[in-house]
Amino acid sequence: MKNLENNIEKILFSEYDIEKIVADLAESINADFKNQEIILVGLLKGSVVFMSDLLRKITLPCEIDFMAASSYGSGTTSNGDVKIIKDLTIDIKDKNVIIVEDIIDSGNTLSRVLNILKKKNPKNLRLCSFLSKPDRREVNDIRIDYLGTEIPDEFVVGYGLDFDEKYRNLPYIGILKREIYL
Ligand code: IMP
Ligand code: MG
Repeated sequence: MKNLENNIEKILFSEYDIEKIVADLAESINADFKNQEIILVGLLKGSVVFMSDLLRKITLPCEIDFMAASSYGSGTTSNGDVKIIKDLTIDIKDKNVIIVEDIIDSGNTLSRVLNILKKKNPKNLRLCSFLSKPDRREVNDIRIDYLGTEIPDEFVVGYGLDFDEKYRNLPYIGILKREIYL
């Protein structure tokens, strides 16, 4: 992965940092839903690495499902035009649902997905995101119930996050060098 790593400006969260953040998030979810069942809904593809770590720290009876929404193409900024490419396969009516995201940026993707899921009448609909870039928010009514950490307005990759579909396999989260995408 040498060539990928050369394109990283700075590591923001090491594997060790990430493990601790995920453990804290799982602990909150386990406590909030004690003696209940939950469904984790991961948004493809960015959430898969986080989802697989989080899932293994959940001690409640738990199902998983995935949705895919797209707003990006291959650039680094959202255009607000969100398409649902893959819908759920399990019924979430009257269930405790937690959406799992890698990062909330403008919030456009999430607000579209939240509206779709609300119509399916879950008992509870919560949001868990590893990262948030509050400075870039365009949709202001998004409440992140379980947030790993906030980051400044920088383009980051690794731990599932991509640039042009690459870098998802880096085990840490780093800022991508600007010359790679400018
Ligand atoms: P939003 O609709 O603008 O909130 O965009 C959310 C999606 O954009 C995330 O699920 C990511 O896939 C992607 N995204 C936003 N910021 C970054 C970043 O810094 N690195 C990689 N992907 C990002
Ligand atoms: Mg992406």
